[in-house]
Amino acid sequence: MSTNQHTHDLDRAHVFHSWSAQGSLDPLVIAGGKGTEVWDFDGRRYLDFSSQLVNTNIGHAHPKVVEAIREQALVLPTVAPAHANLARGEAARRILAKAGPEFGKVFFTNGGADANENAIRMARLTTGRDKVLSTYRSYHGNTGAAVVATGDWRRVPNEYARGHVHFFGPFLYRTEFWATSPEQESERALKHLERIIQVEGPSSIAAILLEGIPGTAGVLVPPPGYLAGVRELANHYGILLILDEVMSGFGRTGDWFAWQNDVVNPEGVVPDLITFAKGVNSGYVPAGGVIISESIAHAFDDVVFPGGLTYSGHPLAMASIVAALDAMEEEGIVENAATIGRDTLGPGLAALADAHPLIGEVRGLGVFWALDLVTDPETREPVSGVTVGALKKELLARGLLPFVVDNRIHVVPPCTVSAEEVVRALAIYDEAFTAVEATL
Ligand SMILES: Cc1ncc(COP(=O)(O)O)c(C=O)c1O
Repeated sequence: MSTNQHTHDLDRAHVFHSWSAQGSLDPLVIAGGKGTEVWDFDGRRYLDFSSQLVNTNIGHAHPKVVEAIREQALVLPTVAPAHANLARGEAARRILAKAGPEFGKVFFTNGGADANENAIRMARLTTGRDKVLSTYRSYHGNTGAAVVATGDWRRVPNEYARGHVHFFGPFLYRTEFWATSPEQESERALKHLERIIQVEGPSSIAAILLEGIPGTAGVLVPPPGYLAGVRELANHYGILLILDEVMSGFGRTGDWFAWQNDVVNPEGVVPDLITFAKGVNSGYVPAGGVIISESIAHAFDDVVFPGGLTYSGHPLAMASIVAALDAMEEEGIVENAATIGRDTLGPGLAALADAHPLIGEVRGLGVFWALDLVTDPETREPVSGVTVGALKKELLARGLLPFVVDNRIHVVPPCTVSAEEVVRALAIYDEAFTAVEATL
């Protein structure tokens, strides 16, 4: 039996998968990866335009990160969170330097969900308030409060946490506000949020939790003035602003954080808490955390923070963060994401949309894009799962690993992707769309 088949059989026999009915799964076997490419045991190669779960920002098997994990494993492969550890301190120092002078400390977690969990707890404890407002078009992770803060379908069977209220964020292409311009969408979405705050009772609301750019929901780049408007509402009503940069942070938008991007936040407003995971070390070792403002960090100087994790600041994760951030800096990887988005990927996807009526809208920046697929550009009716499935099959057959959500293809390669790889990928998308359109 081939190793590919053996791997597949082992998985099907013994592994229980996330968010799935288990019976009909047919997982792709991945044996290894390097840079933008992954391959199976038979040597079939794929351009990874999914970055796995939009997290391998530095690409696969970056040698400096792999070496840092190896070196740390030889010295101290684990340590309790209560002890001071050099890699942890260095990781925190680097993360704070990217976030800016308003931030004082980092609380490390195992991933993005528990980062949000703890950010929510900090907000509740420092405000003495209970409710958390988040958008319907969001994903914040799969733990108690994070999954209920989530807006999408994954919340519904898991609603056991309390104090969560949802609202609609701006999304002009599928506007909830009958808006016809980005400015109008922004203004009306802010008005809607303010009404939600008023009717929920401002004095009961601890935090507004927003993704820097809602990612899984469709790469919904906020329109002009929205983030600044939310900050203003938060200030006005004494509410904290938590930005979830788990997917949008650490290079994906061509900036260290989406909120630092000129398109997203030209006003330069600053959140109170930032959550991160994924791109901070490209997931080579599970890691996440909360970047805490000076004032919130100091609120716990004499008051116990009632939270912790055995693996908070795990040294292998911390060493990989240090190496990943240093390599991203030295090799201009964040700048590469910005340049690729502006010069190659953005224009290339716009041309793809011009050529293919299935693509209703192209949205994004950096290496963070979504193709919103429709049956008719006028009605904007989302395509069916069958059409998306057919596209996925055509892309895989041509050697491209796509990221597919609902009626969309998210185009999310590593931040290290080259212009040549983007051109190759664009040709594959073009062929796959042509093949599927011929069957419709
Ligand atoms: C915006 C956002 N927040 C939180 C999470 C949850 O992160 P994790 O799966 O590491 O817990 C995700 C995961 O996709 C995410 O995209």
